[in-house]
Amino acid sequence: MNPYDILVFNTPEEAAKAIAQLISNRITEKQNSLSPFNLAISGGKTPQTLFNILANDFAEKIPWHQLRLFWVDERCVPPTHPESNFGMTNETLLKKVPLPKKNVFRMKGETVPEEEAIRYQSLLTKELPSKNGIPVFDLILLGMGNDGHTASIFPKDINLIDSHLSVAVTQHPDTGQKRITLTGPVLKQADEIIFFVTGASKATILKEIILNEPSAKKYPAFHIYSAEGKTSFYLDKEAAALLPKELPLL
Ligand code: 6PG
Repeated sequence: MNPYDILVFNTPEEAAKAIAQLISNRITEKQNSLSPFNLAISGGKTPQTLFNILANDFAEKIPWHQLRLFWVDERCVPPTHPESNFGMTNETLLKKVPLPKKNVFRMKGETVPEEEAIRYQSLLTKELPSKNGIPVFDLILLGMGNDGHTASIFPKDINLIDSHLSVAVTQHPDTGQKRITLTGPVLKQADEIIFFVTGASKATILKEIILNEPSAKKYPAFHIYSAEGKTSFYLDKEAAALLPKELPLL
């Protein structure tokens, strides 16, 4: 595995601006190729800052027709539900940019979870290039929960790191809410992974992961990195507070 790139910013907004610029650059770089840029995004609170910046500052800069948007995970609720990852992305980003609807591949949280996992797995196989039979994304944007989960792979689902499936059904350990999630192999197959992690509540686990401490093995986020490509952590200084001080503050 290539070592992580770790970028520390003063604020979540500055980290989000840097990620937005990277996404814009990556899509533009691929503009002249015949293949689209396949991006999978996470939900939760952290990416909302990023989606607002993409909508407000990049609506005219990104060749949106070149982008195809997929989801890393989805809560098993309707798209209009306040906890829907698609719903959040639709409000903060999709309504404000000229991304063609045909380029938006949402996980359908309103359907039977097990059926949707099968449907989405087939969709990925059909729509994406693959390597060793596993779909390949150009870029996957991940977050990390306070328990070290990523996507909707929770510590109790650690077996999904090596699942033979690309898409699985899990349950939130506290609420019991069912989730659809990409699994470890398809996450690790991505050409590039960005972890966008902010806030003091993530600092301890982040330190364990970045410093490769023995305790990190129980966290799904520890096991996810681009097997052959680039993995970067975009952090604010609160999340990076326990990391070695020699990391430059950007
Ligand atoms: C989700 C996300 C999940 C998220 C982490 C961090 O559906 O909730 O995909 O993996 O990235 O839970 O969430 P916050 O950004 O809200 O801390």
